[in-house]
Amino acid sequence: MIKKGIILAGGMGTRMSPLTKAVNKQLLPIYDKPLIYYPLSLLMLSKIKNILIIVNKGQLNQFRKIIPNGNNLGIKITYKEQDKPRGLPDAFILGEKFIEKDNVALILGDNFFYGQNLQSMLLKCSKLKNGARILIHPVSNPELYGVAKLNNKNRIILLKEKPKKFISKFAVTGFYFFDNKVINYAKKLKPSKRNELEIIDLLKKYKNSKNLYADYVGRGGAWLDTGSIDDFYKASSFVSAIESRQGLKIACLEEIALNNKWISKKEILNSIKFYGKCEYSNYLNKLIK
Ligand code: TTP
Repeated sequence: MIKKGIILAGGMGTRMSPLTKAVNKQLLPIYDKPLIYYPLSLLMLSKIKNILIIVNKGQLNQFRKIIPNGNNLGIKITYKEQDKPRGLPDAFILGEKFIEKDNVALILGDNFFYGQNLQSMLLKCSKLKNGARILIHPVSNPELYGVAKLNNKNRIILLKEKPKKFISKFAVTGFYFFDNKVINYAKKLKPSKRNELEIIDLLKKYKNSKNLYADYVGRGGAWLDTGSIDDFYKASSFVSAIESRQGLKIACLEEIALNNKWISKKEILNSIKFYGKCEYSNYLNKLIK
């Protein structure tokens, strides 16, 4: 079982400027909660309790205000600063001490998934012992993404960054599960032309050793990447539409912790005190009635 997870929540958020000039992108709202709640909820749904959040240098206090240490969620949160965006695989170099000899999941701080059977898929992925497993999702514009082609055993046989010629409609999303080799692979990577370590280069190491597998978040599920202001707006509308229809929240961290039996009524009451009088607290109140 993978018991450790990393959320990469730094980045410049250039495409979202001026919104991201003073505030980190992951702290901006997707409808009724900060973006970081969504990737964190996915690690918690994968039953991962030991979580490292990587943030930009100088932004630790911003994050600690909303997610202090995980106590009220029954999880352990630690933070690490990244001095500048060196690329996604930097997570494993910065996270080496946190990972130790274990396997690890990585989720990008701006990735958002929703759908039926998602949790069972995540629980399957988190059973990983060797190699790597990623999630892929069909997109209408694969030429803008890293894309993957699979064989009938879900093994990735082709992997290409922003392919000009069509090879597959399945984009590589920002949720990955790795064995411990990932630390050494990351350390051996060379920066690309844009001077970053590239996740595709890291995944290729696993693909070349025939040990890279993928699961489909199919059309019954949604993967929204929230890189632009327009994406934020669309994701907010999506969450708002579903939550108001169902009366259930997406990515309510306390609800997931309660369902996982990691916390009890006492911690929920602490959270209500922490959030104060608001609609989110009203929702928490209903959970313990
Ligand atoms: P990107 O989409 O590469 O970058 P960004 O979100 O900062 O946006 P922009 O391109 O507009 O500047 O990053 C994807 C996610 O990973 C995002 O949540 C930021 C995070 N990230 C880091 O934390 N460190 C890094 O070195 C990189 C490259 C990204």
